[in-house]
Amino acid sequence: MATKDLQITVATRLRQAIRQVSIFSSLSSDGLDEIAAIAKVETFRKGRFLFRKDDLADGLYIILRGLIKITQFSHLRKAKTLAILGAGTFFGEMAIINEERRSASAIVLTDAELLKIEKQDFKHLLADNFDITYAILQQVCSRLRAADREIEDHTFKNIEGRLASKLLQLADQFKSNDGNVSDEFIALSLTHQELADLVGTNRETVSHKLGVFRKEGSVKIGNDRKLRILDREKLLSWTRQ
Ligand code: CMP
Repeated sequence: MATKDLQITVATRLRQAIRQVSIFSSLSSDGLDEIAAIAKVETFRKGRFLFRKDDLADGLYIILRGLIKITQFSHLRKAKTLAILGAGTFFGEMAIINEERRSASAIVLTDAELLKIEKQDFKHLLADNFDITYAILQQVCSRLRAADREIEDHTFKNIEGRLASKLLQLADQFKSNDGNVSDEFIALSLTHQELADLVGTNRETVSHKLGVFRKEGSVKIGNDRKLRILDREKLLSWTRQ
């Protein structure tokens, strides 16, 4: 393929990818061109730290492909995963908007392709485009709501309830339905340690409680480590104890 044709193909693919990002869904063709001109596509391998808590902020990231883990660490290196973010979402806006340092670390959970918009370009974008600013505000409100729910879980629920609640939340976020409505599977494979970091407990406890859920028939775990929710009501009842 000639270099010019290749450039056109790459530009078209980039515009298509930008169109899939919810905060850019309202953009006109010119708006998409503007984002394509300021955004840089970068690919990262699993395990890479994109930035660490307290780093200076240099830009906003948008996920085109892959999963990113937002995590905090204690001084003893215990991890608490605040969120797992997938394609079409963004992160790194807080430190730029607040003019503070990064509030948490961002780690690549599966090989990822990201768009990066430099700090000053992102600020101009916010100032010039109400629809984007509003869409970001809506997402940030959803994240605050999820964080409130998590505080509620930590305050009022036992460990089984917190694990059940997290599994149901992941199922809603990463749902992939096999055709049978009562048989949802969480379309991402997490290790027991990764689940423990999300719930705020240790790996042994997660393994044990998953065994309890498996025995009662509320979940099933495939060889691919993807988890199937077989009985949503049974899982929900753990969250009410
Ligand atoms: P920033 O503080 O720049 O860097 C870490 C990013 O993680 C932060 O911006 C948000 O984009 C994201 N983040 C922080 N806390 C949460 C959370 N509770 N849920 C989802 N994303 C978060």
